[in-house]
Amino acid sequence: MISDTTDFLTDKLSTGARRITSSAIRDLLKLTEQPDVISFAGGLPAPECFPTEEIAAAAERVLIENPIAALQYGPTEGYAPLRAFLAEYMAPLGLRVPASQVLITSGSQQGLDLLGKLFLEPDALVAVEEPTYLGALQAWRPYCPRYLTLPMDDEGLDVAALERALLAGATPRFLYLVSCFQNPTGISLSSARRQAIVELAARHQLLIVEDDPYGELYYEGERPGLLAALDVAAHGELRHIVYLSTFSKNAGTRPAHRLDGRARCARRSLYTR
Ligand SMILES: Cc1ncc(COP(=O)(O)O)c(C=O)c1O
Repeated sequence: MISDTTDFLTDKLSTGARRITSSAIRDLLKLTEQPDVISFAGGLPAPECFPTEEIAAAAERVLIENPIAALQYGPTEGYAPLRAFLAEYMAPLGLRVPASQVLITSGSQQGLDLLGKLFLEPDALVAVEEPTYLGALQAWRPYCPRYLTLPMDDEGLDVAALERALLAGATPRFLYLVSCFQNPTGISLSSARRQAIVELAARHQLLIVEDDPYGELYYEGERPGLLAALDVAAHGELRHIVYLSTFSKNAGTRPAHRLDGRARCARRSLYTR
């Protein structure tokens, strides 16, 4: 009976949906649910750090003080005061953008999915670090892109290899990179490489997706400047970079945001956990 129903639905799936295979991340999360497993593989925040009381108090306050606005449909780009808050929150990092360029998403993962919808189609080229974040590859699988894989060393992405590929005629829709504590290598891009990548993006009109879920988990040394902030410093506006970040890793909530000067979008937060 179940398999009849499964076959019935499978027959109707879109070509893109047929390309989605079992998620390795989902398989991994199944393992991490076991009480005796401490996984360092899944990017899971330490549960003892979840600010449960603060989140409960905030949810209660919102539902008592402003229940209609909290429960009613809102703008697709996200709750306006939250967008404004995020624009202010990012400004001290040099990422000065108006709130109108902030889009609230349900986790960075949704930002990655939206980028696939916007920029990818079969055979479109995406430049990625080798290795790269599995979840990004999974998000884009339905669009069937090709990948230009770029080597990394201790300082992060090999910028010279990227430039050689561009000069040889490669035209990626965008370069995807995780700038701080990259998943899966843990490597952070050095300051010199950050500067070089931003300059290269301007020279080659390259769009960069800077995924930065871990930048706030910096405990020693100085946090390197965001690629997006260097882009703003160079052009007076966010021009070549879509910046993704999230509170999933540090607040136990699933707010994420996307900042993008061109697409007029940026940061988003859904308290779904
Ligand atoms: C590099 C990277 N990007 C995006 C995500 C997804 O973040 P979120 O949980 O906010 O969707 C993760 C989560 O592991 C990640 O490691």
